[in-house]
Amino acid sequence: MSSHGEPIPMIARRSGPLTGVAEVPGDKSISHRSLILGALAVGETRVTGLLEGQDVLDTAKAMQAFGAEVEKRGDTWHVHGVGVGGFAEPEGVIDCGNSGTGVRLIMGAMATTPVAATFTGDASLNKRPMARVTDPLALFGARAYGRSGGRLPMTILGARNPLPVRYATPVPSAQVKSAVLLAGLNAPGETVVIEREATRDHSERMLAGFGAEVSTEITPEGRVITLRGRPELRPQTIAVPRDPSSAAFPVCAALITEGSDVLVPNIGLNPTRAGLFETLRDMGADLTYENMREEGGEPAADLRARFSPDLKGIEVPAERAASMIDEYPVLSVVAAFASGKTHMPGVRELRVKESDRIDAMAVGLRACGITVDEGEDWWTVHGLGHGSVPGGAITQSRLDHRIAMSFLVLGFATQQPVRVDDGGPIATSFPIFEPLMTSLGADLAREA
Ligand code: S3P
Repeated sequence: MSSHGEPIPMIARRSGPLTGVAEVPGDKSISHRSLILGALAVGETRVTGLLEGQDVLDTAKAMQAFGAEVEKRGDTWHVHGVGVGGFAEPEGVIDCGNSGTGVRLIMGAMATTPVAATFTGDASLNKRPMARVTDPLALFGARAYGRSGGRLPMTILGARNPLPVRYATPVPSAQVKSAVLLAGLNAPGETVVIEREATRDHSERMLAGFGAEVSTEITPEGRVITLRGRPELRPQTIAVPRDPSSAAFPVCAALITEGSDVLVPNIGLNPTRAGLFETLRDMGADLTYENMREEGGEPAADLRARFSPDLKGIEVPAERAASMIDEYPVLSVVAAFASGKTHMPGVRELRVKESDRIDAMAVGLRACGITVDEGEDWWTVHGLGHGSVPGGAITQSRLDHRIAMSFLVLGFATQQPVRVDDGGPIATSFPIFEPLMTSLGADLAREA
């Protein structure tokens, strides 16, 4: 089932060539953060290019429930913030739908304000681990009462007299890092987060943009991020860049679909997000960066992806995992069309995303005739080469947008069509996926 309605069965058939310009929506990570930091600033933040996917809309609703005014006028979202420490106690339950980023960042943002809030989500989110966030929030003095195993629904009592925290993240997670930093905003003194592996740094960049004192030092322990608490955040005007994780789908579709040539303009290449594109180039993909430039202090380019019949399987460096963690499902699809094995180590985190993404992809790929080996924190796809992938199965999206889109991309180049039991979850991050892919020439449809 999709998170907000009846299942939407979909079918992708062998397509080609995919051509044209793919204008993908705004970055999901940056969209959530714009709304949350806008709600914590004093005055009006204006946001254009916001991703209007269900995940982000759920965060907008949550910010209203905590007392911020959030409304869209024309193309611009206006967020009237209540200031750091100014969150009101929500009257109802905060439903974050499918969004781990939404719930974990909001828990952090409210954990050092003396209000109580109860959080819930859909069947996928209510299975995901929250202790990774509530453990460090307890160090600030917040208390969490949830279901067994640290699952939602969960009530958080924000700390009345929060203490600053020094916390080394035990898992490579930008969500955990961001929750601690957001909690640190309303704690006196300095809050420090130490991460051994670099994860996406949008929170650090945006906190600095809103006027917080935040610094990152590279040390032998890892990246040490220090935030001075109780700043007055100044409202910002934010143009959300396009999402590299959404760009991944038209890019990968073009690489495996005969005759394709697709331009995906204006994609951020922040090194903490761009691991997939590097990996595809290592596999021999015809993927070029055109018009390289800086946008809002970040490297950006237009991506040009052309059909690449001679892709080769590779060993994906484990240290690259955090910079492409959301892209492994669609990478595994490209790997099926490469010659030889693609081995993906160091990816334990894939097991606790919107679904267990290793299992979800392995089951569906096997049903489509591809051999996949897996362990707790690795998997290997045995590529069959271009033109040789059978397809012909009904795959399960398991309430996971990226699994649904990955299997549909697979179907553009398999011998037999690939079906997905429910394309509904795609709306959480890429609501225009279907018309956009169809406009490029993809044979994609809903089934009755
Ligand atoms: C996100 C961080 C990643 C990613 C998610 C978005 C973020 O999760 O998978 O889609 O915006 O901080 P983790 O930080 O848990 O790896």
